[in-house]
Amino acid sequence: ASYNLLLLPGDGIGPEVMAEVERVIRWLDANSGVHFETETDLVGGSAYDVHGVAITDETMKTAMAADAVIFGAVGGPKWDAVPYEVRPEAGLLRLRKDLELFANLRPAICYPALADASSLKREVVEGLDILILRELTGGVYFGEPKEIVTLENGEKRAVDTQVYTTHEIERIARVAFELARARRNKVTSMEKRNVMRSGVLWNQVVTAVHKAEYPDVQLEHMLADAGGMQLVRWPKQFDVIVTDNLFGDMLSDVAAMLTGSLGMLPSASLGAPDPATGKRKALYEPVHGSAPDIAGKGIANPIAMIASLGMALRYSFDMGEAADLVDGAIADVLASGTRTADLAAKGQNSVSTREMGEAIVKAMAKR
Ligand code: NAI
Ligand code: MG
Repeated sequence: ASYNLLLLPGDGIGPEVMAEVERVIRWLDANSGVHFETETDLVGGSAYDVHGVAITDETMKTAMAADAVIFGAVGGPKWDAVPYEVRPEAGLLRLRKDLELFANLRPAICYPALADASSLKREVVEGLDILILRELTGGVYFGEPKEIVTLENGEKRAVDTQVYTTHEIERIARVAFELARARRNKVTSMEKRNVMRSGVLWNQVVTAVHKAEYPDVQLEHMLADAGGMQLVRWPKQFDVIVTDNLFGDMLSDVAAMLTGSLGMLPSASLGAPDPATGKRKALYEPVHGSAPDIAGKGIANPIAMIASLGMALRYSFDMGEAADLVDGAIADVLASGTRTADLAAKGQNSVSTREMGEAIVKAMAKR
């Protein structure tokens, strides 16, 4: 097999952590029997500096044709004053919109070696491996009307509208059940059907998709506020959590704090399967940003970025074993005590971005 990857390192630490992903890709290319063709292009502030836009039409064309887009991070103080339409973030937003990436996957994995870095007790998080699936293109962030109007009495009234259609709920539910089948076979759907009509429909549609297409998967419904509580009380009860755009935004940030550093968290954003080929458009990126405070120092943690490539292997290329190899190598390296500065305890030695990347590739070769 052969796959085309579009690498968009972006700004700040983006290029530094992407260099370590390229190291992993080169190793896989040489050792996995699968060939990776990569193309690297500009996005964000670095694209603005050259082209005056955060992503060019030509780059968009390449992204549309690629088997997956691997994205670093964009933004930084250098571009704080550029016009809104061409600000660095516009590059990422255009990719999400034009590739119709409606399913956002955020795993929360707690490596045993880092369990003490969590906000919660070791026994609550040690070995945690859950996946939050957030609907990314609908709901209250996009629903119309969306406005602030001035009333006759001079008071102002702000309106955001939560909207979901059957189609939007069905397609995210299907992704949830598919993901669960490849994991521990359990889906927890979260909404607020007690106070929101969209919650009622969400609950009904998820239930119907389950009954018709995925009766083998265990399905549980939870009110989203109770779900937030359970997420910090006993997160290991979950496997896949599926929820809307707003609740997913909040719950995935809560889950992030269960696992330690921002430098550890990968994500995937998937589109609908192509009716002809079954392939999904997909973008993989770390949860963190461009970290201007440490950019250029060579000390950024590349694990979130490398784990994002691991997700691409799993979800875009059907290379589950290679994905397990990457995840296992990360666990091995952490277990051996190797730490970048963000993970190191006070007074503990830390390694550079490059040394961490090299250690992970070495651990892959050893497995
Ligand atoms: P940030 O995630 O860039 O940094 C927050 C803190 O975490 C910083 O202290 C940083 O040094 C640390 N950090 C982040 N990633 C790290 C890594 N891999 N290794 C070690 N330490 C790491 O968020 P912040 O500071 O709010 O935003 C900085 C810039 O990034 C802004 O311009 C923001 O708009 C942009 N941003 C871009 C995102 C994207 O491209 N998807 C997402 C979030 C922010
Ligand atoms: Mg958020």
